[in-house]
Amino acid sequence: MDIFEQTENLQKEVQETVITDAEALEKFRIRFLGSKNILKDIFGEIKNVPNERKKEFGQLVNKVKQTAEEKFAALQEQFQQQNTTAETIDLTLPGDVTNLGARHPIQVVKNQIVDIFKRLGFAVQEDREIEDDWHNFTALNMPEDHPARDMQDTFFINVNPDIVLRTHTSSVQVRTMENQKPPIRILSPGRVYRNETISARSHCFFHQVEGLYIDENVSFADLLQTLDFFVKELFGKDTKIKLRPSYFPFTEPSAEVDVTCFICGGSGCTVCKQSGWVEILGCGMVDPKVLENCQIDTKKYAGFAFGMGVERITMLKYQIKDIRLLSENDTRFLEQFKSAR
Ligand code: DAH
Repeated sequence: MDIFEQTENLQKEVQETVITDAEALEKFRIRFLGSKNILKDIFGEIKNVPNERKKEFGQLVNKVKQTAEEKFAALQEQFQQQNTTAETIDLTLPGDVTNLGARHPIQVVKNQIVDIFKRLGFAVQEDREIEDDWHNFTALNMPEDHPARDMQDTFFINVNPDIVLRTHTSSVQVRTMENQKPPIRILSPGRVYRNETISARSHCFFHQVEGLYIDENVSFADLLQTLDFFVKELFGKDTKIKLRPSYFPFTEPSAEVDVTCFICGGSGCTVCKQSGWVEILGCGMVDPKVLENCQIDTKKYAGFAFGMGVERITMLKYQIKDIRLLSENDTRFLEQFKSAR
């Protein structure tokens, strides 16, 4: 076989070699394009080629080299592409975890309270957090200099002492009675503010739910019945209530309500401080003076009201020992309420 034939055979080999993987491609590269490739050897034979055919021979070897280069480049690109696609779509990889948010425990408990009273026909009525003196205090039978104002340390606005951050949601009672004719049956959840030192047990803002029912012939028995239904729904059907006489300027008579401890069932534990009872809300019959302040005819109408702290109930329910956890937004804390409804 002369050197021309050998070169033609190499050209055929370059064209016909089937290369399906990177390893075979590397072998191909070494054979035809490596530093000691076979074409160099063949080209070395040019000295034995007659002069008149040297040019022809040179062109032939060059053609083989060029074909090999082109084939190598094309295959290399193809394999690289395959590699990157394989890397970007690795079907065995686990999926990205989407961290779903959860309701805040305060929101969870507030919704539970609202849902129970909704079933008794109470409508949600919300109002402003920045109040005037009349709606937060005076109309609720706490005129200026009334000692009961000291029960709630208040944030006043320096430039206008008539404006306060509401200290309780009872202000919504007044706003509603001023704007609606009885019968009135509302529930007012919302945030309130007090000028208290922040500690594990108290904060300068928290949430309350206020209830108000005004109609003809409303009695203390209706209040008792309503609260009894509420605590059984919220804490379980065996829960009992106990009313202790108390004082609020806007209700007469007034009471504080305890429930049998829903942790120990009444036998005594650290949550109820071994008493078997925990306090959850304040209530009473709306003082006629408050009704008069809101232009409601006290000969025709009477009503009851109640107010409770959402943080307090949440802390009791989930045995949270520090109220500050509820406003720090630490996800390690909040994540624990993912399944709470
Ligand atoms: N406003 C009272 C407080 O913040 C709670 C309260 C007590 C509301 C008795 C009422 C009620 O409507 O009747 O301490």
